[in-house]
Amino acid sequence: APWLIAALALGYLLGSIPMGVLASRLFGLGDLRKIGSGNIGATNVLRTGNRKAAAATLLLDAAKGAVAVLIAGRWGPDAAALAGLGAVLGHLFPVWLGFRGGKGVATLLGVTLALSWPAGLCALAAWAGAAALTRISSVGGLASALAAPVALWAFGALEAVLLAAVMAALVWARHWQNIGRILRGEESRIGGKS
Ligand code: G3P
Repeated sequence: APWLIAALALGYLLGSIPMGVLASRLFGLGDLRKIGSGNIGATNVLRTGNRKAAAATLLLDAAKGAVAVLIAGRWGPDAAALAGLGAVLGHLFPVWLGFRGGKGVATLLGVTLALSWPAGLCALAAWAGAAALTRISSVGGLASALAAPVALWAFGALEAVLLAAVMAALVWARHWQNIGRILRGEESRIGGKS
């Protein structure tokens, strides 16, 4: 159906806006892709030491996912979930950056919050809990991605569960280098040197 394609496209367009790259430029921090892990997310912005830029990145990367879901939600719950998938795809594979985007944690959190705010809070709590235990941002991200489809299911957002599982799988797949570093005990810690 055309509105489902429109929802996916709308999500992709919003999701592909690289907030971390833009925020780093606006805050005069240089090219984020040449800093730290080279990733375009809030965690890597934080490695510059600029907390405001990192917070702006986190909020805006989440907001673009939430906005996509909320707009497409007018066309029904399937469109909302598809817009969420589009936003995650846009963040991971933005045409503007030669399809080399981010890892999708903040965007998936925003999408989940907009699909069902209690489920989103659960995913957020999973991020905070896992990150607090390990001091590793990617562990928090992996935990929150796992939590999102489970929490959506638990809170009855059943039409979104399957696509959220796809989004979570994409987020995990984009973390394969992080997973390797975690298993080798080499992953950088929040507030660490880099
Ligand atoms: O949100 C991305 C985070 O989970 C990992 O980022 O820069 O440590 O690869 P980074």
